[in-house]
Amino acid sequence: MSMVNAFNLATAGELPAADRVLLDRRNRALGPAYRLFYRRPLHIVRGEGVWLFDAEGRRYLDAYNNVASLGHGRPEVVEAICTQARVLNTHTRYLHEAVVDYAEALLGTMPEGLRPGRANLMLTCTGSEANDLALRIAAAATGGTGVIVTRIAYHGVTAAVAACSPSLGQDNPLGPDVVTVAAPASGGDVGARFAAGVRQALALMRDRGVRPAALMVDTIFSSDGVFADPPGFLQAAAEEVRKAGGLVIADEVQAGFARTGSAMWGFRRHGLTPDLVTLGKPMGNGHPVAGVVARAEAAEAFGGRVRYFNTFGGNPVSVAAAAAVLRVIRNEGLQANAARVGGRLREGLAQVAARRGGVLDVRGDGLFLGMELEGVGETPARARAALAVDAMREAGVLISATGPRGNVLKIRPPLVLDEPQADLLIAAVDAALSLEADSASPPSVVG
Ligand SMILES: Cc1ncc(COP(=O)(O)O)c(C=O)c1O
Repeated sequence: MSMVNAFNLATAGELPAADRVLLDRRNRALGPAYRLFYRRPLHIVRGEGVWLFDAEGRRYLDAYNNVASLGHGRPEVVEAICTQARVLNTHTRYLHEAVVDYAEALLGTMPEGLRPGRANLMLTCTGSEANDLALRIAAAATGGTGVIVTRIAYHGVTAAVAACSPSLGQDNPLGPDVVTVAAPASGGDVGARFAAGVRQALALMRDRGVRPAALMVDTIFSSDGVFADPPGFLQAAAEEVRKAGGLVIADEVQAGFARTGSAMWGFRRHGLTPDLVTLGKPMGNGHPVAGVVARAEAAEAFGGRVRYFNTFGGNPVSVAAAAAVLRVIRNEGLQANAARVGGRLREGLAQVAARRGGVLDVRGDGLFLGMELEGVGETPARARAALAVDAMREAGVLISATGPRGNVLKIRPPLVLDEPQADLLIAAVDAALSLEADSASPPSVVG
């Protein structure tokens, strides 16, 4: 799956001389696997709150960042990191209060069946590692190897999780025991359709003599095109996989930590208690900390037999950053803010859609929204999305696009977004969608 808004030197046009030099050095040093965003790449040098600043001092509203979800350079997190780094940074093979305090606090945000005493937290450095570990735990707990994922899923970069990530495209082979199902897209009885897909995948595994280990889903279906409705649509599929002896892995790397507004965790919208929950991205507001919550029996099936040590996972500095994130989310009521401001944003985008036309759907939950475009005139839907994303970048607002056809605008601002900033974002989408394919970029909306 090629990135909708990937930079392409051939079509970039004129670039500032300094950026051109840096681009050449970057290509030589980092090689061909990396992609840059936008027709004209951004050279970002600083971030503060919801804003990013480029090398010329121009500011951009960051509406695409679910990592720095408390805002860029968040003082409480920076302070926590610095304070702990001055005292001690080591690993989980010594007794230390901080990692235990954090595990208790994090498990305290989970539903009853995953609370302290009934579940454990294991710490990693990235979401990929968390998913990789979750797969190992699922395999140990079930004796199975089969994994069901959605058709455009992305779960990370290790060999095991890249093999569960069809969104990486046809040149990235899936694992022999990985079966894909259609994502729970809007319309009709979403839950029944998704469960039927999972049932079919399980039947295929049975025919191949593969025992199921897990159904692994990103609970906001970010790369599949952003799907949140109706609440509860995951339940029937979860029952199917459990009946067949598999576990449910909720990948909360995208949806977790209050992003969806209606709950702290995306899976809660669906009235589900997963067996394994994987965490990452916003967990440290940019500091690399991630982890797996595992039902105690599953954790025992793995950890009772195989030791787990992660040199950096769970170090006191990372844990200090993660603890600060949890505190700020709670103290500032950021889940409620995501619900309130996200609601306003969604309503504003729906009004833009009604006024401009050419929009199939506005959907999502809290501050994770998708706006699905259709083709208009000669311009296909994917090209319209790419144009809108680039036009917004030129106007000073950063978003991206997703979905199997690349035609869903993906909007994911920091949880601290306020109402005026939401209005600015709505105005930017409005202006971008009013552009004809060949017209000039819109004027800046951020000043
Ligand atoms: C749903 C999901 N899972 C896992 C990952 C992998 O996380 P990381 O990049 O921290 O390894 C990502 C990253 O984009 C993701 O979106």
